[in-house]
Amino acid sequence: MWWENAVVYQVYPRSFQDSDGDGVGDLRGIAERLDHLAWLGVDALWLSPFYPSPMHDFGYDVSDYKGVDPVFGTLDDFDALVAAARERGLRVLLDLVPCHTSIEHPWFSEHPDWYIWADEPNNWLSAFGGSAWSKRNGRYYLHSFYPEQPDLDWRNPDVIAAMQDALEFWIDRGAAGYRIDAIDRLLKDPGLRDDPPATEAFGLPLSAKEEKLALTHSRNAPDTPEALRRIREAVDGALLVGEVYLPSAKWQPYLEHLDAAFAFELLHASWDADALRRAIEATTRRPGAAWVLSNHDFGRLVTRFGAENARSAAMMLLTLPGPAFLYQGDEIGQGDGPGGQCEFDRAGRDRYRHPMQWDASPAGGFTTGEPWLPAVDAERTNVEAQREDPRSMLSLVRDLLTLRRLLGEGIELLDAAPGVLAYRRGDHSIAINTTAEERPAPLDGELVLETEPGALRGRALAPHTAAVAMGLHLPPMG
Ligand code: NOJ
Repeated sequence: MWWENAVVYQVYPRSFQDSDGDGVGDLRGIAERLDHLAWLGVDALWLSPFYPSPMHDFGYDVSDYKGVDPVFGTLDDFDALVAAARERGLRVLLDLVPCHTSIEHPWFSEHPDWYIWADEPNNWLSAFGGSAWSKRNGRYYLHSFYPEQPDLDWRNPDVIAAMQDALEFWIDRGAAGYRIDAIDRLLKDPGLRDDPPATEAFGLPLSAKEEKLALTHSRNAPDTPEALRRIREAVDGALLVGEVYLPSAKWQPYLEHLDAAFAFELLHASWDADALRRAIEATTRRPGAAWVLSNHDFGRLVTRFGAENARSAAMMLLTLPGPAFLYQGDEIGQGDGPGGQCEFDRAGRDRYRHPMQWDASPAGGFTTGEPWLPAVDAERTNVEAQREDPRSMLSLVRDLLTLRRLLGEGIELLDAAPGVLAYRRGDHSIAINTTAEERPAPLDGELVLETEPGALRGRALAPHTAAVAMGLHLPPMG
């Protein structure tokens, strides 16, 4: 399968490249920048939603599943983008948002029975806080996210047919698959029973209010795999990667129809060798992990793990077995924007969505106009400068993309000093020092790649560094 070891580059269309000077990225802009992705060596790009949308959740509130929002371009632009990607050997994945539409989708007024209604709200919570119910014409409709995102009823055959039609539409136009949004919220208890009080930990971070509840009725209904089967039926052969907000131990029913699921345990682990090891150990117990450390909803590598650890984080992300998702800007160690500014997104995620920094100009080469969000530090951190520098983070990421093709199958976690995460992939061993002190590292053989020159000092790793070595590993005697 082409995707089994693929690196998928996440493009957030609004913030990647603007081609018409309106300050918002667009599909033509993405096409103009494909050479960067081909040069970097990724296998595919995943486009966050570009469909028509009133943008209450920047495209995750879709008002037409078979179109392109004018701010992002036209269907012709999409076709041209896919053709240009193909020429460079890049596949294009789209974002399927099946759980909810925009409240402005014509379906909401034309087919109210396609949505979920109640006479009175139950105790289900919206992912963004507060009740998951809002009133419309004397009744309540369910919205697992913003009130502008009413939940579809996936037990209604007409909903399934409409969604299958949309799924096929883009595959016919050349898409290679989908990242599927919020699958854990796709089907809920048909009786709309309250979520009971929690009796055990959920296994992934939740809001304080969610933590008090066993989220057994508001999400992950037992017939969710049946809906996924219908999705698969429409796009057999396409790559389907699920955003399933569940610990990996609970993925099994979903993976009957999906190829992979995002590994949230690792995404949420702190930069600590033990925590990382626990997450990797748990997630690799079964196949199906798609690794991701950042995206448009979570902080970037530099901000989350500290600038001093960003290179090691990239090394970890790109040397684990299975597909990896790299968020735009992380290849140059771009940081988040200033915190606490949530001018546009009410859930406060603007800071993860500042424009890609291509060069040192004030808008970072993203636009000739006024960018919808300013560049963070384009003068200091940009693609152009880093391309010329063999010691840059960009050069490291490019080297990692070449190296990962040589790594053996599977993963063997190695014993290592406190603060050091180490694992073996065939003949290669990888060690990451998560601490601020020099630490011994179980790296055998010849040094292949290090996060910075001089990271490996004999058999020890400098503070905040990581390295890959290659050598023959003989089985223990006796
Ligand atoms: C997950 C998406 O990544 C996020 O941006 C969005 O707000 C929710 N799903 C709702 O669609």
